[in-house]
Amino acid sequence: MEKKNIDWSNLGFGYMETDKRYVATYKDGKWDEGKLISDSYITMSECACVLQYAQTIFEGMKAYTTQDGRTVVFRPDLNAKRFADSARRMEMPVLSEEQYIDSIKQVVKANEAYVPPYGTGATLYLRPYMFGINPVIGVKPATEFQYRVFATPVGPYFKGGAKPITIKVSDYDRAAPRGTGNIKAGLNYAMSLHAIVEAHEQGFDENMYLDPQTRRKVEETGGANFLFITKDNKVVTPKSDSILPSVTRRSLMYVAKEYLGLETEEREVYFDEIKDFAECGLCGTAAVISPVGKINDHGKEICLPSGMEKMGPITQKLYETLTGIQMGLVEAPEGWICEIK
Ligand code: PLP
Ligand code: COI
Repeated sequence: MEKKNIDWSNLGFGYMETDKRYVATYKDGKWDEGKLISDSYITMSECACVLQYAQTIFEGMKAYTTQDGRTVVFRPDLNAKRFADSARRMEMPVLSEEQYIDSIKQVVKANEAYVPPYGTGATLYLRPYMFGINPVIGVKPATEFQYRVFATPVGPYFKGGAKPITIKVSDYDRAAPRGTGNIKAGLNYAMSLHAIVEAHEQGFDENMYLDPQTRRKVEETGGANFLFITKDNKVVTPKSDSILPSVTRRSLMYVAKEYLGLETEEREVYFDEIKDFAECGLCGTAAVISPVGKINDHGKEICLPSGMEKMGPITQKLYETLTGIQMGLVEAPEGWICEIK
Protein backbone atom coordinates (compact mmCIF):
# COMPACT_ATOMS: atom_id res chain seq x y z
CA MET A 1 0.00 0.00 0.00
CA GLU A 2 1.34 3.39 -0.99
CA LYS A 3 1.82 5.97 1.77
CA LYS A 4 0.54 9.55 1.42
CA ASN A 5 2.99 12.18 0.35
CA ILE A 6 3.42 13.87 3.75
CA ASP A 7 6.50 15.47 5.29
CA TRP A 8 6.33 12.96 8.16
CA SER A 9 9.44 14.10 10.02
CA ASN A 10 8.19 17.67 10.35
CA LEU A 11 4.70 16.94 11.63
CA GLY A 12 3.65 18.61 14.85
CA PHE A 13 0.84 17.45 17.11
CA GLY A 14 -2.07 18.71 15.04
CA TYR A 15 -5.21 17.57 13.25
CA MET A 16 -5.11 16.48 9.63
CA GLU A 17 -8.25 15.07 8.07
CA THR A 18 -7.79 11.47 6.95
CA ASP A 19 -9.96 9.32 4.67
CA LYS A 20 -12.22 7.32 6.98
CA ARG A 21 -13.69 7.49 10.46
CA TYR A 22 -15.84 5.02 12.39
CA VAL A 23 -19.26 5.81 13.79
CA ALA A 24 -21.62 3.75 15.94
CA THR A 25 -24.94 4.96 17.33
CA TYR A 26 -26.62 4.08 20.61
CA LYS A 27 -30.39 4.35 20.49
CA ASP A 28 -33.32 2.56 22.16
CA GLY A 29 -30.97 0.97 24.65
CA LYS A 30 -28.50 -0.60 22.24
CA TRP A 31 -25.48 0.03 20.04
CA ASP A 32 -25.73 -0.53 16.30
CA GLU A 33 -22.91 -2.44 14.64
CA GLY A 34 -21.05 0.69 13.50
CA LYS A 35 -19.45 1.55 10.17
CA LEU A 36 -16.73 3.53 8.43
CA ILE A 37 -17.78 6.80 6.81
CA SER A 38 -16.07 9.54 4.78
CA ASP A 39 -17.79 12.68 6.10
CA SER A 40 -15.74 14.29 8.86
CA TYR A 41 -18.53 16.65 9.94
CA ILE A 42 -21.23 15.94 12.52
CA THR A 43 -24.75 17.36 12.47
CA MET A 44 -26.69 17.54 15.70
CA SER A 45 -29.42 19.41 17.58
CA GLU A 46 -28.56 22.80 19.05
CA CYS A 47 -29.68 21.30 22.34
CA ALA A 48 -27.54 18.12 22.16
CA CYS A 49 -26.47 17.06 25.65
CA VAL A 50 -22.80 17.30 24.71
CA LEU A 51 -23.19 20.96 23.71
CA GLN A 52 -25.14 21.99 26.79
CA TYR A 53 -23.75 19.77 29.54
CA ALA A 54 -20.45 18.45 28.16
CA GLN A 55 -21.40 14.78 28.25
CA THR A 56 -18.37 13.54 26.35
CA ILE A 57 -15.46 11.19 26.95
CA PHE A 58 -12.47 10.21 24.84
CA GLU A 59 -9.34 8.11 24.52
CA GLY A 60 -5.94 8.63 22.90
CA MET A 61 -4.00 5.85 21.19
CA LYS A 62 -1.39 5.49 18.46
CA ALA A 63 -0.69 3.17 15.53
CA TYR A 64 2.96 2.53 14.68
CA THR A 65 4.89 1.08 11.77
CA THR A 66 7.35 -1.46 13.11
CA GLN A 67 10.89 -1.89 11.84
CA ASP A 68 9.77 -4.89 9.77
CA GLY A 69 6.88 -2.98 8.22
CA ARG A 70 3.89 -4.21 10.24
CA THR A 71 1.21 -1.82 11.51
CA VAL A 72 0.49 -2.20 15.22
CA VAL A 73 -1.38 -0.57 18.09
CA PHE A 74 -0.31 -0.63 21.72
CA ARG A 75 -2.41 -2.28 24.45
CA PRO A 76 -5.86 -1.32 23.07
CA ASP A 77 -7.51 -3.49 25.72
CA LEU A 78 -6.41 -1.07 28.45
CA ASN A 79 -7.85 1.91 26.58
CA ALA A 80 -11.09 -0.02 26.02
CA LYS A 81 -11.38 -0.71 29.77
CA ARG A 82 -10.63 2.90 30.70
CA PHE A 83 -13.17 4.09 28.14
CA ALA A 84 -15.77 1.86 29.79
CA ASP A 85 -14.85 3.30 33.23
CA SER A 86 -15.22 6.82 31.82
CA ALA A 87 -18.62 5.93 30.33
CA ARG A 88 -19.95 4.54 33.62
CA ARG A 89 -18.86 7.61 35.59
CA MET A 90 -20.48 9.92 33.01
CA GLU A 91 -23.80 8.00 32.79
CA MET A 92 -23.06 6.89 29.25
CA PRO A 93 -23.57 3.45 27.73
CA VAL A 94 -20.61 1.10 27.80
CA LEU A 95 -19.27 -0.06 24.45
CA SER A 96 -18.00 -3.64 24.51
CA GLU A 97 -14.25 -4.15 24.46
CA GLU A 98 -14.75 -6.23 21.35
CA GLN A 99 -16.50 -3.43 19.44
CA TYR A 100 -13.97 -0.87 20.70
CA ILE A 101 -10.99 -2.89 19.46
CA ASP A 102 -12.74 -3.72 16.20
CA SER A 103 -13.42 -0.01 15.58
CA ILE A 104 -9.72 0.79 16.14
CA LYS A 105 -8.65 -1.94 13.74
CA GLN A 106 -11.08 -0.75 11.07
CA VAL A 107 -9.96 2.88 11.31
CA VAL A 108 -6.25 2.05 11.19
CA LYS A 109 -6.74 -0.35 8.29
CA ALA A 110 -8.82 2.17 6.32
CA ASN A 111 -6.23 4.91 6.88
CA GLU A 112 -3.11 2.79 6.54
CA ALA A 113 -1.69 5.21 3.96
CA TYR A 114 -1.50 7.75 6.80
CA VAL A 115 0.39 5.54 9.26
CA PRO A 116 3.82 7.21 9.25
CA PRO A 117 6.68 5.02 8.00
CA TYR A 118 9.14 3.54 10.49
CA GLY A 119 11.95 5.87 11.50
CA THR A 120 10.17 9.16 10.78
CA GLY A 121 9.40 9.87 14.44
CA ALA A 122 5.72 10.30 13.57
CA THR A 123 2.76 8.04 14.43
CA LEU A 124 -0.94 7.81 13.60
CA TYR A 125 -2.85 9.24 16.54
CA LEU A 126 -6.26 7.66 17.16
CA ARG A 127 -9.03 9.49 18.91
CA PRO A 128 -11.99 7.36 20.03
CA TYR A 129 -14.75 9.47 21.64
CA MET A 130 -18.39 9.30 22.65
CA PHE A 131 -20.94 12.00 23.29
CA GLY A 132 -24.62 12.49 24.16
CA ILE A 133 -26.37 13.69 21.01
CA ASN A 134 -30.10 13.99 21.64
CA PRO A 135 -31.65 17.26 22.90
CA VAL A 136 -31.56 17.62 26.69
CA ILE A 137 -32.49 20.80 28.51
CA GLY A 138 -33.15 19.73 32.12
CA VAL A 139 -29.89 18.51 33.63
CA LYS A 140 -29.91 14.79 32.90
CA PRO A 141 -27.97 12.36 30.75
CA ALA A 142 -28.68 11.90 27.05
CA THR A 143 -30.43 8.76 25.86
CA GLU A 144 -28.82 8.71 22.42
CA PHE A 145 -25.07 8.64 21.85
CA GLN A 146 -22.50 8.54 19.10
CA TYR A 147 -19.21 6.71 19.41
CA ARG A 148 -16.60 7.73 16.86
CA VAL A 149 -12.94 7.15 16.06
CA PHE A 150 -10.83 9.31 13.79
CA ALA A 151 -7.15 9.14 12.96
CA THR A 152 -4.59 11.85 12.32
CA PRO A 153 -0.83 11.59 11.74
CA VAL A 154 1.18 13.38 14.43
CA GLY A 155 4.69 14.30 15.45
CA PRO A 156 5.90 15.17 18.96
CA TYR A 157 3.42 16.68 21.44
CA PHE A 158 5.95 19.23 22.68
CA LYS A 159 7.88 21.27 20.15
CA GLY A 160 11.49 20.15 20.10
CA GLY A 161 10.64 16.48 20.63
CA ALA A 162 12.94 15.01 23.24
CA LYS A 163 14.31 18.38 24.45
CA PRO A 164 13.60 19.02 28.14
CA ILE A 165 10.67 21.32 28.83
CA THR A 166 9.88 23.85 31.54
CA ILE A 167 6.66 23.62 33.50
CA LYS A 168 5.03 25.76 36.15
CA VAL A 169 3.12 24.92 39.30
CA SER A 170 -0.46 25.87 38.55
CA ASP A 171 -2.62 27.92 40.87
CA TYR A 172 -5.65 26.22 39.38
CA ASP A 173 -6.86 22.75 40.26
CA ARG A 174 -7.38 20.16 37.57
CA ALA A 175 -9.70 17.79 39.38
CA ALA A 176 -11.73 17.88 42.57
CA PRO A 177 -11.32 15.26 45.28
CA ARG A 178 -13.96 12.62 44.44
CA GLY A 179 -14.43 14.34 41.06
CA THR A 180 -13.65 13.10 37.55
CA GLY A 181 -9.85 13.37 37.46
CA ASN A 182 -9.44 9.60 37.12
CA ILE A 183 -11.47 9.33 33.91
CA LYS A 184 -10.99 10.80 30.46
CA ALA A 185 -13.89 13.24 30.31
CA GLY A 186 -13.77 16.31 28.06
CA LEU A 187 -14.74 18.46 31.03
CA ASN A 188 -11.34 17.83 32.69
CA TYR A 189 -9.66 19.38 29.68
CA ALA A 190 -12.15 22.24 29.29
CA MET A 191 -11.30 23.46 32.76
CA SER A 192 -7.57 23.28 32.03
CA LEU A 193 -7.73 25.53 28.94
CA HIS A 194 -7.47 28.81 30.84
CA ALA A 195 -4.55 27.46 32.87
CA ILE A 196 -2.65 26.24 29.80
CA VAL A 197 -3.17 29.52 27.92
CA GLU A 198 -1.80 31.41 30.93
CA ALA A 199 1.15 29.02 31.25
CA HIS A 200 2.00 29.40 27.55
CA GLU A 201 1.71 33.20 27.76
CA GLN A 202 4.19 33.11 30.62
CA GLY A 203 6.61 31.01 28.56
CA PHE A 204 5.97 27.59 30.13
CA ASP A 205 5.25 24.38 28.24
CA GLU A 206 2.81 22.81 30.70
CA ASN A 207 1.27 22.99 34.17
CA MET A 208 2.04 20.85 37.16
CA TYR A 209 -1.18 20.35 39.09
CA LEU A 210 -1.09 19.72 42.82
CA ASP A 211 -3.65 17.77 44.78
CA PRO A 212 -6.65 20.04 45.29
CA GLN A 213 -7.22 19.08 48.92
CA THR A 214 -3.84 19.91 50.48
CA ARG A 215 -1.90 21.38 47.53
CA ARG A 216 1.20 19.68 48.90
CA LYS A 217 1.28 16.62 46.67
CA VAL A 218 2.10 16.26 42.97
CA GLU A 219 -0.75 15.07 40.75
CA GLU A 220 -0.12 15.28 36.99
CA THR A 221 -0.06 17.74 34.10
CA GLY A 222 -2.91 18.64 31.77
CA GLY A 223 -2.18 15.69 29.50
CA ALA A 224 0.36 13.34 31.10
CA ASN A 225 1.37 11.57 34.32
CA PHE A 226 4.68 12.22 36.10
CA LEU A 227 7.66 9.92 36.50
CA PHE A 228 10.52 10.88 38.80
CA ILE A 229 13.91 9.22 39.10
CA THR A 230 15.66 9.34 42.46
CA LYS A 231 19.40 9.87 42.76
CA ASP A 232 19.77 6.14 43.43
CA ASN A 233 17.83 5.26 40.24
CA LYS A 234 14.45 4.39 41.69
CA VAL A 235 11.45 5.15 39.45
CA VAL A 236 8.73 6.95 41.40
CA THR A 237 5.25 7.90 40.18
CA PRO A 238 2.49 9.72 42.07
CA LYS A 239 -0.40 7.68 43.43
CA SER A 240 -3.68 9.54 43.57
CA ASP A 241 -7.37 8.82 43.03
CA SER A 242 -7.76 12.02 41.03
CA ILE A 243 -5.23 11.43 38.24
CA LEU A 244 -5.74 9.55 35.00
CA PRO A 245 -4.45 5.96 35.14
CA SER A 246 -2.06 6.37 32.21
CA VAL A 247 -1.47 3.33 30.01
CA THR A 248 2.01 4.66 29.22
CA ARG A 249 2.87 5.11 32.90
CA ARG A 250 1.64 1.63 33.84
CA SER A 251 3.68 0.20 30.96
CA LEU A 252 6.80 2.16 31.90
CA MET A 253 6.63 1.03 35.52
CA TYR A 254 6.58 -2.55 34.25
CA VAL A 255 9.44 -1.87 31.82
CA ALA A 256 11.49 -0.22 34.59
CA LYS A 257 11.10 -3.23 36.86
CA GLU A 258 11.07 -6.17 34.46
CA TYR A 259 13.31 -4.95 31.61
CA LEU A 260 15.69 -2.55 33.33
CA GLY A 261 15.77 -4.15 36.80
CA LEU A 262 15.00 -0.86 38.53
CA GLU A 263 13.15 -0.43 41.77
CA THR A 264 9.73 1.19 41.29
CA GLU A 265 7.35 2.96 43.64
CA GLU A 266 3.81 4.21 43.12
CA ARG A 267 3.17 6.43 46.11
CA GLU A 268 2.19 9.90 47.21
CA VAL A 269 4.86 12.35 46.05
CA TYR A 270 5.21 15.57 48.03
CA PHE A 271 6.11 18.73 46.15
CA ASP A 272 8.90 19.35 48.68
CA GLU A 273 10.63 16.15 47.53
CA ILE A 274 11.12 17.30 43.94
CA LYS A 275 14.31 19.19 44.64
CA ASP A 276 15.91 15.86 45.60
CA PHE A 277 15.05 13.95 42.39
CA ALA A 278 17.58 13.39 39.60
CA GLU A 279 15.19 13.29 36.63
CA CYS A 280 11.58 14.09 35.86
CA GLY A 281 9.47 13.15 32.84
CA LEU A 282 5.91 13.44 31.59
CA CYS A 283 4.45 10.26 30.19
CA GLY A 284 1.43 9.63 28.03
CA THR A 285 0.37 8.49 24.58
CA ALA A 286 0.87 11.95 23.10
CA ALA A 287 3.81 12.92 25.33
CA VAL A 288 5.54 9.47 25.12
CA ILE A 289 8.17 10.51 27.70
CA SER A 290 8.94 14.18 27.62
CA PRO A 291 11.78 15.16 29.92
CA VAL A 292 11.24 18.05 32.33
CA GLY A 293 14.29 20.24 32.91
CA LYS A 294 12.85 22.95 35.12
CA ILE A 295 9.86 23.41 37.38
CA ASN A 296 8.87 26.96 38.25
CA ASP A 297 7.12 27.42 41.58
CA HIS A 298 5.91 31.02 41.66
CA GLY A 299 9.25 32.37 40.48
CA LYS A 300 11.37 29.87 42.39
CA GLU A 301 13.08 27.49 39.98
CA ILE A 302 13.76 23.85 40.64
CA CYS A 303 16.36 22.72 38.11
CA LEU A 304 16.55 18.96 37.64
CA PRO A 305 20.19 17.74 37.62
CA SER A 306 19.54 16.17 34.17
CA GLY A 307 19.50 19.75 32.79
CA MET A 308 17.91 21.46 29.80
CA GLU A 309 19.96 19.88 27.02
CA LYS A 310 18.94 16.25 26.96
CA MET A 311 16.98 13.51 28.69
CA GLY A 312 18.45 12.06 31.85
CA PRO A 313 20.04 8.60 31.47
CA ILE A 314 17.23 6.59 33.10
CA THR A 315 14.50 8.50 31.26
CA GLN A 316 16.43 7.79 28.05
CA LYS A 317 16.56 4.05 28.79
CA LEU A 318 12.86 3.98 29.60
CA TYR A 319 12.11 5.88 26.40
CA GLU A 320 14.22 3.59 24.24
CA THR A 321 12.78 0.42 25.74
CA LEU A 322 9.15 1.53 25.49
CA THR A 323 9.43 2.86 21.93
CA GLY A 324 11.51 -0.22 21.07
CA ILE A 325 8.62 -2.41 22.19
CA GLN A 326 6.14 -0.30 20.22
CA MET A 327 8.25 -0.33 17.04
CA GLY A 328 9.16 -4.01 17.23
CA LEU A 329 12.87 -3.61 18.17
CA VAL A 330 12.45 -5.02 21.67
CA GLU A 331 10.39 -8.11 22.46
CA ALA A 332 7.02 -7.09 23.89
CA PRO A 333 5.36 -8.64 26.91
CA GLU A 334 2.54 -10.99 25.95
CA GLY A 335 -0.55 -9.13 24.74
CA TRP A 336 0.94 -5.64 24.49
CA ILE A 337 1.09 -5.43 20.71
CA CYS A 338 -1.98 -5.75 18.52
CA GLU A 339 -1.18 -6.20 14.87
CA ILE A 340 -3.49 -4.68 12.26
CA LYS A 341 -3.93 -7.11 9.38
N1 PLP B 1 -3.01 12.21 32.17
C1 PLP B 1 -3.84 12.92 31.42
C2 PLP B 1 -4.59 14.02 32.06
C3 PLP B 1 -4.00 12.61 30.06
O1 PLP B 1 -4.82 13.33 29.30
C4 PLP B 1 -3.26 11.56 29.51
C5 PLP B 1 -3.42 11.20 28.10
O2 PLP B 1 -4.09 10.30 27.73
C6 PLP B 1 -2.39 10.84 30.33
C7 PLP B 1 -2.29 11.19 31.65
C8 PLP B 1 -1.59 9.71 29.79
O3 PLP B 1 -2.38 8.57 29.62
P1 PLP B 1 -2.01 7.48 28.52
O4 PLP B 1 -0.64 7.03 28.82
O5 PLP B 1 -3.02 6.41 28.75
O6 PLP B 1 -2.13 8.14 27.21
C1 COI C 1 -3.12 11.47 24.93
O1 COI C 1 -1.95 11.41 25.34
O2 COI C 1 -3.56 10.66 24.14
C2 COI C 1 -4.03 12.50 25.40
O3 COI C 1 -5.19 12.32 25.28
C3 COI C 1 -3.49 13.74 25.97
C4 COI C 1 -3.97 14.96 25.26
C5 COI C 1 -3.51 16.12 26.05
C6 COI C 1 -3.49 15.04 23.85
